[in-house]
Amino acid sequence: MKNELVIVIDFGGQYNQLVARRVRECNVYCEIYSYKIDIEKIKEMNPKGIILTGGPNSCYEADSPTYSKELFELGIPVLGLCYGAQLMQHILGGKVEKAAVREYGKTNVIVDKKESAIFKGVKEETTCWMSHFDYISKTAPGFEITSHTTDCPVASAENTDQNLYAIQFHPEVLHTEEGTKMLSNFVMNVCRCSGDWRMDSFVEESIKKIREKVGDGKVLCALSGGVDSSVAAVMLSKAIGKQLTCVFVDHGLLRKNEGDEVEAVFGPEGPYDLNFIRVNAQQRYYDKLKGVEEPEQKRKIIGEEFIRVFEEEAKKIGAVDYLVQGTIYPDVVESGLGGESAVIKSHHNVGGLPDYVDFKEIIEPLRDLFKDEVRKAGLEMGLPEYLVFRQPFPGPGLGIRIIGEVTEEKVKIVQDADAIYRQEIANAGLDRSIGQYFAGLTNMRSVGVMGDERTYDYAVALRAVNTIDFMTAEAAEIPYEVLNKVMNRIINEVRGVNRVMYDLTSKPPGTIEFE
Ligand code: XMP
Repeated sequence: MKNELVIVIDFGGQYNQLVARRVRECNVYCEIYSYKIDIEKIKEMNPKGIILTGGPNSCYEADSPTYSKELFELGIPVLGLCYGAQLMQHILGGKVEKAAVREYGKTNVIVDKKESAIFKGVKEETTCWMSHFDYISKTAPGFEITSHTTDCPVASAENTDQNLYAIQFHPEVLHTEEGTKMLSNFVMNVCRCSGDWRMDSFVEESIKKIREKVGDGKVLCALSGGVDSSVAAVMLSKAIGKQLTCVFVDHGLLRKNEGDEVEAVFGPEGPYDLNFIRVNAQQRYYDKLKGVEEPEQKRKIIGEEFIRVFEEEAKKIGAVDYLVQGTIYPDVVESGLGGESAVIKSHHNVGGLPDYVDFKEIIEPLRDLFKDEVRKAGLEMGLPEYLVFRQPFPGPGLGIRIIGEVTEEKVKIVQDADAIYRQEIANAGLDRSIGQYFAGLTNMRSVGVMGDERTYDYAVALRAVNTIDFMTAEAAEIPYEVLNKVMNRIINEVRGVNRVMYDLTSKPPGTIEFE
């Protein structure tokens, strides 16, 4: 399956994952490795191409990340991007210096060598994303300058005899208008990949591998109904059928009808072959959460109760051979196992291996996939779109979208309000364009008037954010008519609500969730 591979060597740049994604968009399988990867390992993998990423350092400083010269002598095409480009020049005898001014942002790049393989089909003047202080002041012997900008004499250079390419800007970010074309040119025309990495064959191969690995063993999966665990469960089900048991804990803090939706897909009436156990633990959770107002404490209670419920079910099932986890590729890279970038995302749900389940090994069938690829795999295996394109939903569920004490009544209010909100966002055609949106419940009650009656009811908060990485976010600009319609419907249809507000806060200083 992985016989046609391009590797990305990560020097700590913030766009490392984007580079790999763009390569995969060319239907070429791509993996990210730290610059500390051994040259022998690279030889063993024998990739069709190597891409060096950007990074925050200056290549001429003594302890900056580097690589041995041998990398450029393997006969494998190498493309250096930003820091990677400078490093290539530096190692091969060119000169890199600090510039008087930093070149940053969208920049006009003038292509000097139109027949360069990298610039095939690219305009003579093209907008590119620059972000650098250092610049290549002299190219290494054998290199020819292929483009420049007003401030930067070497925007790109190449040594076609040795298949070495250096690009100072960032073709992987979408601000570089023809960047995808340039990367595709490298991968297809220089590395001569055929582009035969396809989701259907990945799924098929994965199922085969799981079957071989598991044999007649037993597998347990904690199914949350989220995209990753759902896709992982379906893959396992296709591979080993009833040897798989999925435990789905309904903690009573799910979105409206979500528990039934998950059961409809994975339960005995659904299309998949597996053992499905739904644990209706709603009341247990409401009892535990009674009187608790502090958000961290709520999170802790919900998390601990999950372990307890899951443990009880696992005991009933007895020893299993494998436990399924829905780890995906960004988790692997961000936890420092794949690339070089700092661990920037704290994984809310990763709490180490569960020691309360008796199992021998973990299976992670989605470990190699990006989120959009997980979605593709889900669709490929027939999962319904509403499951596949589900928004992120926190493990503690509505427990952290209700300010103050969580009660069954409040859960019902927020479920109903949220369902209306989601419906109207979908009706307005905005459901795929907003990063994350949901209704939360403030703990505030205030006076209103409905008909001739005075009311004293809750205020619902509508939240919608646009975000790239969920580390920062901005409130989405939803058309006023849509908000107005949502407000009207919530007030009219949801008992216990007499006010609707829109949360304008960005992150930071706010968080995305509403707790
Ligand atoms: P915050 O609220 O921290 O959220 O800005 C960032 C992203 O993470 C999600 N989130 C969670 N996801 N378990 C999860 O699986 C959690 O406990 C959790 N808390 C927040 C949140 O929905 C947003 O996408």
